[in-house]
Amino acid sequence: MTTPPREFTTSEGARRIAWAARGMPVLTAVAERLAQDGPLRGLRIGIALVLEPKTANLAYALAGAGAEVTVYGTASAHAALVADALRASGIDVHIDPSGDGGFDVEVAREFLHSRPQILIDDGAALIRLAHAEFPEVIAGLIGAAEETTSGVRPLRQMAQEGALKIPVVAVNDARMKYLFDNVYGTGQSCVMALLDLTNLQLAGRTVVVVGYGWVGMGVARHAAALGARVVVSELDPIKALRAHYDGYRVAALADVAPEAEVVFAATGIAGAITPDHVHLLRDGAILCTAGGGAFELPMDHLRTVGTPRTVRNAVVEYALPSEKHVLVVSDGECLNCVDGEGNPIEVMDLSLSLQALAVQHIALHFRDEPAGVTSIPVELEETVARIRLAREGATVETLTPELAAAMRAW
Ligand SMILES: NC(=O)c1ccc[n+]([C@@H]2O[C@H](COP(=O)([O-])OP(=O)(O)OC[C@H]3O[C@@H](n4cnc5c(N)ncnc54)[C@H](O)[C@@H]3O)[C@@H](O)[C@H]2O)c1
Repeated sequence: MTTPPREFTTSEGARRIAWAARGMPVLTAVAERLAQDGPLRGLRIGIALVLEPKTANLAYALAGAGAEVTVYGTASAHAALVADALRASGIDVHIDPSGDGGFDVEVAREFLHSRPQILIDDGAALIRLAHAEFPEVIAGLIGAAEETTSGVRPLRQMAQEGALKIPVVAVNDARMKYLFDNVYGTGQSCVMALLDLTNLQLAGRTVVVVGYGWVGMGVARHAAALGARVVVSELDPIKALRAHYDGYRVAALADVAPEAEVVFAATGIAGAITPDHVHLLRDGAILCTAGGGAFELPMDHLRTVGTPRTVRNAVVEYALPSEKHVLVVSDGECLNCVDGEGNPIEVMDLSLSLQALAVQHIALHFRDEPAGVTSIPVELEETVARIRLAREGATVETLTPELAAAMRAW
C-alpha cells in the first residue's frame, strides 16, 4: 500500500484511476474493441466489486462501450475517492458509508433497484440477494459473471440443488484468473498490506497459512521470500503434500498455533479458525484474512470473550480471559482490499479484462442460456494472455501444422 496523500481530493481519485489505467493495457485494448463492436450498447450493467481505481477503469470501459453502468462498491482504502471520481463522470455508485468491508444489505438493495441486465459479482452476495428478494431482477438478468472462489462455490451448490435461476460465468475458474490474481496478486498484496499496516517485518517470524489453495500458495510464497518460516495447515492431503514439496512445514493448526506469530486465513470457508485455535495461540499473535472474509475467523467469540483495544489504525488487540492477547487486522476482513490498495494493477488488468470479455460473452450468447455455472471460453482467456505477453515483450511459440498433427497423434 502506498502512503495516502495528506489531502484526499476528488482529483486524487481521478489521478489514481488514471495511474491504474497506465498499467492496464489489456483492459484498454478490450475496451476499444467493445466500443467499436457495440455488443453492450444500451445494456444496464451492474458491477459489484471491491471499489478501487482498477475497478473504476472497468466501469469506464463498459460505459465507453455504451452500457449504462451502476456500481456497488465494497469497501477499500480509497473507495470514497474512487466513488467521487466515478460520480463526477456520470456513473451511479452505491457504497457502504461505514467502510468496514462487510456486506451492507441496504446499499446492495439500492444497487439492485437499478435492475442490471448483466451483473458482475464478487462473492455472489448480490446474486444471492437478488434470488432471495428481487424476482424482477432475476427475471431481467441475461446473466452474471462471478469473480472469486468463495462466490463460485455457493453458486455451484445452488445450481446442483436447482436453486440457481440464471446463467453465470465463473470468471474465477479461468486459468488466466486464478493462476495470476489469486497467487501473485493476493499473495503479494496481503503480505504487503500486513507489513504496511503493522510496520513489522516477517523475517524470522513463524507465519501460518491456513489453506494452501491458490491464495494460500501466493501468501506462503511472498511471506517466505521475506524470510518468514512458513507453516501450512491444509485439509486436502494432496494440497498439503504439495505444500510440503514446495518446502513448507505442514502441520495441523492446533499443533502449530502455540508457535504462530502471524496466521493468515486463506480458505474461503466459514469457521476455518475456531475459538479453540485462538486460545492455543501465543501471546501477541496476529490474525488476518487473505481469503473470503472475516467469517473465516471466530470474530464473534473474540468480541464476546475478549476486551478490544485499537492499538493502531486497522489493528485491534483483544485481551483474553487467559491474559493472553490476540491482534486482529482489518477486523478480520480481507486486509488487502479493506485497508490496502487491493491486488496489484498488472494482475487486475488480467482479471478485469476477463470480466469485460465475460460481459461481452453474456451479451452475445446468453439470451437463451439455461441457468447454471459455466466457464469462460478459453479463446477469451488466450486473448488476454496474448495482449499482456505482447506488452511484456514476450513472444508465444507458434503452433505449426506439424506440431498440431503430432499433438493429435495416437
Ligand atoms: N483477498 C483477495 O484479494 C482474494 C483474491 C482471490 C481470492 N480470494 C478468496 O480467497 C479464498 C481462497 O481462494 P483460493 O482460490 O485459494 O481457493 P482454493 O479453493 O483454491 O483454496 C482454499 C483451500 O483451503 C483449504 N481449506 C478449506 N478449509 C480449510 C481448513 N479449515 N483448514 C485448512 N485448509 C482448509 C481447501 O482444502 C483449499 O485447498 C476464497 O474465499 C477466495 O474467494 C481473495
